[in-house]
Amino acid sequence: MGFSAGDSKKGANLFKTRCAQCHTLGEGEGNKIGPALHGLFGRHTGSVPGYAYTDANKQKGIEWNEDTLFEYLENPKKYIPGTKMAFGGLKKEKDRNDLITFLKDATK
Ligand code: HEC
Repeated sequence: MGFSAGDSKKGANLFKTRCAQCHTLGEGEGNKIGPALHGLFGRHTGSVPGYAYTDANKQKGIEWNEDTLFEYLENPKKYIPGTKMAFGGLKKEKDRNDLITFLKDATK
């Protein structure tokens, strides 16, 4: 199964509890432990200026969109072997749908 639109409010809560300690969303908010996610949709892996990515993340060579995020966020270390993102993954499809639906707007 692939991405289908979910509940953005639930996604916002997931972001706050699962992602916000390492990532910012808004324009100009900068990098934390992980790269800034502003402008995520449509950009290539490993392309935030000034962020020290692993080669694995840089060389993945895909574009971030609903479908690639849906697969990545289930198990980041499987999708990008060698990534330093210390996050086990969101196993429930519904959680990924909710989070990605939120991210589409929140990273614009
Ligand atoms: C403990 C810190 C941490 C948490 C929690 C975390 N991340 Fe990350 N994230 C990182 C790091 C570090 C990287 C860079 C990985 C690398 O270079 O190998 C990263 C990379 C990414 C990337 C790739 C960005 C790019 O420009 O290629 C995306 C997308 C992402 N994270 C989304 C998320 C989302 C969504 C969540 C919550 C579900 C999350 N992350 C949770 C630390 C974290």
